[in-house]
Amino acid sequence: MTRIPLIAGNWKMYLTRTEAVALASAVAAATQGLTDREVMIAPPFTALAAVKEAVASSPVKVAAQNVGWEKEGAFTGEVSPPMLLDAGIEMVIIGHSERRHIFGEDNSMINRRLRAALQFALMPILCIGETLAEREAGNTFNVLEEQLTQGLAQITAEQMSNVVVAYEPVWAIGTGKTATDAQAQEVHAFIRELLARSYEKTLADCIRILYGGSVKPENVDSLMARPDIDGVLVGGASLNATTFERIIYFR
Ligand code: PGA
Repeated sequence: MTRIPLIAGNWKMYLTRTEAVALASAVAAATQGLTDREVMIAPPFTALAAVKEAVASSPVKVAAQNVGWEKEGAFTGEVSPPMLLDAGIEMVIIGHSERRHIFGEDNSMINRRLRAALQFALMPILCIGETLAEREAGNTFNVLEEQLTQGLAQITAEQMSNVVVAYEPVWAIGTGKTATDAQAQEVHAFIRELLARSYEKTLADCIRILYGGSVKPENVDSLMARPDIDGVLVGGASLNATTFERIIYFR
């Protein structure tokens, strides 16, 4: 069982193409020769191709922040998997809580996106997470189980080995309020158990589960020290090269 840590930056709706290339180049410079962990950045669609070019000679992987589920067609506002491949993109974030809560994406839509990504050999990061109200009502585990099982509907074991899961409690995203490493570990262990039940323990033991929600240099070390936390999905703190570099080199 080896799970290579994955440090992922989600740039959300920030940075022009020029700004994105500058930050990507700094991340690329900071990760030369890195082999014991993976680094991924997810710029907005308009900067994907330029960022991919900027990190070409580094180990940095580039992800999109969403993906359409058809190859092409009348789907205004969507970007298809082949279009991402054409821009050199290898990974994609799917089901981020901002997509779910601001733009109304539901589990079945997220499942369609995930299946399309896998079909075109894009590595998906499936995001799941409970709201504060759901946590306070004692529904955390039910909500996560529903998001995970519906999000992964029809995904075979073979496909599953290419999926990354990200646990992002909605109440911790962009709020400065991080889940404690104990809270995160509890949920990560639960997710791994669910995966073992749906697939096999040996497979579940290979799947990377990232934590996301106000990850910073101050909390990354204790989060990464937990056995079931295999990486982090970083929003705000990934927009600064120095801060993100410190997170990449967690201790
Ligand atoms: P944050 O965002 O690190 O700014 O809380 C995390 C995310 O939304 O992926």
